[in-house]
Amino acid sequence: MSEDSRAVAERYEYAVNEYTATEPHLAAVHSPPAIPDYLQDTYWWAYLHPKALHFFEREWVVNLILWGNMRSLTQAVLGELDVQPNSRVLQVACVYGEFSSLLAGHLADSGSRLDLVDVAPIQLKNAREKLSAHRNVHYHHEDSSSMSLPSASFDQTVVFFLLHEQPEDVRRKTIAEAIRVTRPGGKVIFVDYHGPRRSNPFRYVMKPVLKWLEPFALDLWRQELPAFMPDSVRPEQLQSEFYFGGLYQKVVLTV
Ligand SMILES: C[S@@+](CC[C@H](N)C(=O)[O-])C[C@H]1O[C@@H](n2cnc3c(N)ncnc32)[C@H](O)[C@@H]1O
Repeated sequence: MSEDSRAVAERYEYAVNEYTATEPHLAAVHSPPAIPDYLQDTYWWAYLHPKALHFFEREWVVNLILWGNMRSLTQAVLGELDVQPNSRVLQVACVYGEFSSLLAGHLADSGSRLDLVDVAPIQLKNAREKLSAHRNVHYHHEDSSSMSLPSASFDQTVVFFLLHEQPEDVRRKTIAEAIRVTRPGGKVIFVDYHGPRRSNPFRYVMKPVLKWLEPFALDLWRQELPAFMPDSVRPEQLQSEFYFGGLYQKVVLTV
């Protein structure tokens, strides 16, 4: 670890302790998960450093990062949700911008509830503040690869741009966990990067950017997302849609 990242890690440790002191119920329920190494080493600048929130927590920034596709990808998730009265929907990992707010609002009319999981206390604190107007959101300090949430406890589960940030072993566990906590007949909705068509000029822009900043993301260019799912998943359970010349994908798994 470089001097810079050690200093950030120390500042971050302080932020965790401060947060746990103000949110004791989170620590009381089960022992809090540690920050995974890949998050600390590769993504501290995006999710753990307090200044990251100031920079990234704006809709126009996330929209720019997604080349103007944030709204249409959010709509792709909302349109896929089958919202029944009193449904329970799990969002695995916080998302910058308005995504969770739109999701919580979409669920509210039917009396449905959104449960939000993240491994980083600073992200959960930020989400609580950002979503304070929504009374139907519940927060869980959990690692996506080993959640303490009960099996089959959600009608639908959403995993939005998390998998490309995780090393393959963690990604496989996250997918298995998302399936485990979703009830039979429910849906798991994954939205993430995908290998774009050769004719898509963004292919040549994004490849070096991802290689530099997001080293695990190119796995999702090389292999289709179902390749990381448990062997028990059958092709007829899956539906895929592609966006923006194939740079993004939505994969819906009916459990
Ligand atoms: C959903 S992903 C990326 C979302 C998207 N790039 C955006 O605009 O925010 C980012 C979140 O995943 C969380 N995260 C990363 N690894 C995790 C894990 N193993 N368990 C739970 N949350 C995790 C990070 O703390 C961060 O809040």
